[in-house]
Amino acid sequence: MAPSETARRRAEWLRREIERHNHLYFVRDQPEITDAEYDRFFAELVELEAKHPELASPDSPTQRVGAPPLPQFADVRHRTPMRSLGNAFTEEQVRAFDRRVRDALEVDAVEYAAEPKFDGLAISLSYRNGVFAQGATRGDGATGEDVTANLRTIRTIPLRLPRAPDTEDLEVRGEILMYAADFARLNERQRRGGEREFANPRNAAAGGLRQLDSRITAQRPLRFVAYGVGAAPCAGWRTHAEMLARLEQLGFPVCPERRVVLGHDGMLEFYEAIGRRRSQLPYGIDGVVYKVNRLDWQERLGYVSRAPRFAIAHKYPPEEQVTEVLAIEVQVGRTGALTPVARLRPVQVGGVTVTNATLHNEDELRRKDIRIGDTVVIRRAGDVIPEVLAVRPELRPAGARSFKMPRNCPVCGSAVVRNDDEAATRCSGGLYCPAQRKQALVHFAGRRALDIEGLGERLIDQLVDNQLVSTPADLFALDGDVVAALDRMGEKSAGNLLAALEQAKRTTLERFVFALGIRNVGESTARDLARHFGRLEPLMNADEAELEQVPDVGPIVARSIRQFFAEPHNAEVIRKLRAAGVAWPESDGVVLPAPGSAKTFVVTGSFAGVTRDAVRSRIESAGHRVSGSVSKKTDYVVAGTDPGSKLEKAQALGVTILDLEGLRRVLESERKP
Ligand code: IVH
Repeated sequence: MAPSETARRRAEWLRREIERHNHLYFVRDQPEITDAEYDRFFAELVELEAKHPELASPDSPTQRVGAPPLPQFADVRHRTPMRSLGNAFTEEQVRAFDRRVRDALEVDAVEYAAEPKFDGLAISLSYRNGVFAQGATRGDGATGEDVTANLRTIRTIPLRLPRAPDTEDLEVRGEILMYAADFARLNERQRRGGEREFANPRNAAAGGLRQLDSRITAQRPLRFVAYGVGAAPCAGWRTHAEMLARLEQLGFPVCPERRVVLGHDGMLEFYEAIGRRRSQLPYGIDGVVYKVNRLDWQERLGYVSRAPRFAIAHKYPPEEQVTEVLAIEVQVGRTGALTPVARLRPVQVGGVTVTNATLHNEDELRRKDIRIGDTVVIRRAGDVIPEVLAVRPELRPAGARSFKMPRNCPVCGSAVVRNDDEAATRCSGGLYCPAQRKQALVHFAGRRALDIEGLGERLIDQLVDNQLVSTPADLFALDGDVVAALDRMGEKSAGNLLAALEQAKRTTLERFVFALGIRNVGESTARDLARHFGRLEPLMNADEAELEQVPDVGPIVARSIRQFFAEPHNAEVIRKLRAAGVAWPESDGVVLPAPGSAKTFVVTGSFAGVTRDAVRSRIESAGHRVSGSVSKKTDYVVAGTDPGSKLEKAQALGVTILDLEGLRRVLESERKP
């Protein structure tokens, strides 16, 4: 059926609207609608075009999902060559460039358009009558490859420009790149899918752009940034800056960091300023580019062989370097995680000497197969900790040794544990290990733990740094005069602290268990453990199977509890705490239903004198489950007044219905001895 005029108008409106939102989202970073609203527009357009194929057009945003694979890329001859740039590595070379430019133009001072040098791939985009017609890679500068279908999938490339004389015939030049954050997510996805990871954002961008199947390109988070034009017969701009402003107006992303600067001093200032922010930029750069701002002057200066005389790239020191692994050691962090660290032959990277690099964890080490004696590629970006990117296996010496994680913590000697669900290997001596000391003490003294008033991070730092306290047990042996002599303390605060410690000794089992800082044991698990065991000894002696009887304690939590109490160093600290007088009321514990005999309850309606929440928690603390809806799996429905449809459903399914008295009897009888 031929599309009605309404359908045609609607399709046209949707296209314009979708592209406007693409621009707001990807280029301006200021979305006006939610993703769901965007998806609805998109789905509507897809449907319209499917119903009326004659409405489809190559500049429709629906084309951004990719097209069937090509047998190969066609060659494209560039109308104006895509040139390269000369490089400057030193300030002197930048001054010399400025001197050459001024001499050739016979002027005293020159304005330059300065911008980052993006670390991606050059491309050229051709627009005819305002519509994106063809896009090509740089190739050898004269001939590139036709990657139009791939470029169409990139949301930051406008498919249609406003109609104007200068958009009738326009070639826009710029860079395809991938943001560091997008790159990290992509590699995470590759890793999860068991696929090869990309070495860096540039390789990932290049891989994405050179796909014969543009549907794959569409899955890659590629971006475009414009930095110039090729053929532009109808352009009226006079400077590079004006040209970029016009491209921005037409909807192209241009770099917000661009500036117009004066002379070599202006260029060098720009270089320094961008260099300082390099690691915070969302994309990688390897330098900055200076271009004579006036286009008529650019033309007068012309080209030498393949590079312009009017522009130069000023490079930063590389952030990647090659060096040798001298040794692999282990560091213990504040949370007890053991991190292997490579000691390196010192090397200059990005302007500083690097002597070691993190290897993250055991899996990372194995995956990259890094051995002592290996030659490795390291990377240091800004203030980020240097890391080993890859090994050069072809340079591996015969005696290169593999590294094994130690079985004991190199700091305190406690056993180390590695759980399947975690990448990190950890020291299990949480209460005892000097590396974890401060963190353990802060947690122990916290409001929700032993709640020792006045014992904050600053005081803990002082106590540990002055070797007055090494484990929580030492807190209770502190001497008032010694504390009073500490920085910012005094007799009164010292007295208050000792009083607070005295008070904290009378606690509850649940607070005490939480205060121990056992991995995976938060407040609510501590409460469940305290309620279940009633006393500390049976909890300390429980095996994993017994621990798993406690509601919400699964194998992972059970194992961390077991590992914690199995470490003799921790047991010793607990013994000292109790000897110092830390105590709590004990009970025999609540015996909860055996696993498998827990029942499922639904609570509905209102109850006189008690909230629905209170009824629910009475059921839960007896070890049963409370569900929100009635099903075949429901064992009991507890119904108050105005129970509504849940009661009807329960009756229909034949589920036992209880009032509060009935609930009490059931909870009594469901209890197992
Ligand atoms: S201008 C005639 N500006 O650097 C000069 N190039 O060596 C045209 N590049 O592969 C280049 N960022 O893709 C220019 N802001 C920038 C750039 C830039 C990166 C790349 C370009 C080309 C290489 C030139």
